[in-house]
Amino acid sequence: MTSRLWLVMIGTFAVIVGAQKQEGFISLDCGLPSGESPYDNQVNGLTFTSDSNFIQTGKIGEVQKDADKGFLRQYTTMRYFPEGKRNCYSLDVKRGTNYLIIVTFVYGNYDGRNLEPNFDIYLGTDKWTRIDLEGTPYGTRQEIIHKVQTNSLDICLVKTGITVPLISAIELRPQRNDTYVTHSGSLRMSFREYLTNTTGQIRYPDDIHDRVWFSWFDDPYYKEVTTSLSINNSDTYDIPKTVLKSAATPRNATEPLFINWTPRPSNAQVYFYLHFAEIQTLEANETREFDIIFGENFNHSGFRPLKLQLSTVYTDAPVQCDSGGCSLQLVRTSKSTLPPLINAIEAYTVMEFSQLETSLSDVSAIKNIKATYQLSKISWQGDPCLPQDLGWENLRCTYANVSTPPRITSL
Ligand SMILES: *[C@@H]1O[C@H](CO)[C@@H](O)[C@H](O)[C@H]1NC(C)=O
Ligand SMILES: *[C@@H]1O[C@H](CO)[C@@H](O)[C@H](O)[C@H]1NC(C)=O
Ligand SMILES: *[C@@H]1O[C@H](CO)[C@@H](O)[C@H](O)[C@H]1NC(C)=O
Ligand SMILES: *[C@@H]1O[C@H](CO)[C@@H](O)[C@H](O)[C@H]1NC(C)=O
Ligand SMILES: *[C@@H]1O[C@H](CO)[C@@H](O)[C@H](O)[C@H]1NC(C)=O
Ligand SMILES: *[C@@H]1O[C@H](CO)[C@@H](O)[C@H](O)[C@H]1NC(C)=O
Ligand SMILES: *[C@@H]1O[C@H](CO)[C@@H](O)[C@H](O)[C@H]1NC(C)=O
Repeated sequence: MTSRLWLVMIGTFAVIVGAQKQEGFISLDCGLPSGESPYDNQVNGLTFTSDSNFIQTGKIGEVQKDADKGFLRQYTTMRYFPEGKRNCYSLDVKRGTNYLIIVTFVYGNYDGRNLEPNFDIYLGTDKWTRIDLEGTPYGTRQEIIHKVQTNSLDICLVKTGITVPLISAIELRPQRNDTYVTHSGSLRMSFREYLTNTTGQIRYPDDIHDRVWFSWFDDPYYKEVTTSLSINNSDTYDIPKTVLKSAATPRNATEPLFINWTPRPSNAQVYFYLHFAEIQTLEANETREFDIIFGENFNHSGFRPLKLQLSTVYTDAPVQCDSGGCSLQLVRTSKSTLPPLINAIEAYTVMEFSQLETSLSDVSAIKNIKATYQLSKISWQGDPCLPQDLGWENLRCTYANVSTPPRITSL
């Protein structure tokens, strides 16, 4: 889809003047020399700082001029890790907060070797995903909504072969605690899109929580509806007005509107969030009503979008897709004189994290020792005992069972 646009400046933007709230945002431009930190991004006013206070290892690199696709400033430098198997950022976060975490990787032939790396990325002590930069001149990114259990969050890069891990930017955005709530696990983003036949992307400051929205449209099957009227978007999900001012309806007004996708892995548990507002002016004798159907276990029937007012329909509990993939259908009811309509959609898959960490008192004791004696072994980053194959060198830990925090026994 249009995710390559993520990294580059498109169209013309008004320069945002003056700092907006950005409350609780963490925006790290990895590899930014500390002397150039902080700066305000020209496109959206986000304030980026250098990553140097959050990691002790790694080296600084820069995208080569002829590999630069017009990247936004935060994606032009990176930190790379020629030494050590695991290198970790340690971020100060607010315990219990549901963060949208976005990590971005751009190789840009910084080392002149034309060798795009692959490696793993960990959230705390659990593997998040594999990053493979092969054939990605525009880089790649990962997004997850993850609730943190302590006031500190480690994001680690782990070498898996001969190539050197790197990272370009780390962005954390606290979300409202009454949104994106799961029964268990974190929400790995599949996509977040608004329906329009024009190309674009929307994020902060339009989106006060800085979710990034990409335009999407299934042109042969959809017809676009737009409005210039103001839409009331006060609802828990705070969807930007600019996302809501366009929508799709099926071109054939008697047919359902279909949205299909393939989750990864195919048997994943899925959560989705559908955002609606009636943006057409209906005559007194007109009605828009439809059933929202997802596989066999989700049927929200008789839904009517509210006039110029946001409403969000979402899964309370995770749903599973058929073997053929995920299929959302908006089916016009017999009462309706108009086809179904949808303004925006988000879909996620559930990722379970053990979130088990070494006993906190042991960790603070060993960190004190490390600081007092200025011990700087390359492996002494992240959790001391977990995962077991990446623990700190020369440290012994005991592991009772999978539900008990490991203890440090000796140095
Ligand atoms: C959620 O956030 C609101 C407002 O910030 C706060 O008043 C409330 O106590 C929080 N609820 C939970 C369960 O953390
Ligand atoms: C988008 O849809 C509108 C309404 O159907 C149409 O007038 C316009 O030409 C379309 N634009 C593009 C770029 O397809
Ligand atoms: C927007 O909707 C909310 C919730 O229904 C309502 O309380 C508020 O008054 C509305 N705002 C405007 C400007 O109509
Ligand atoms: C629209 O869909 C209906 C029902 O599937 C079908 O009978 C009709 O031929 C379609 N109309 C067009 C113009 O394709
Ligand atoms: C609604 O009323 C208008 C004019 O009063 C008429 O032209 C139109 O056909 C009616 N539509 C429906 C679906 O009955
Ligand atoms: C969804 O629920 C409505 C109302 O109960 C029903 O008419 C419709 O057939 C259901 N659709 C599916 C696919 O189960
Ligand atoms: C794990 O070990 C702890 C401490 O030895 C014990 O209290 C707990 O019951 C064990 N839990 C399981 C699931 O074995």
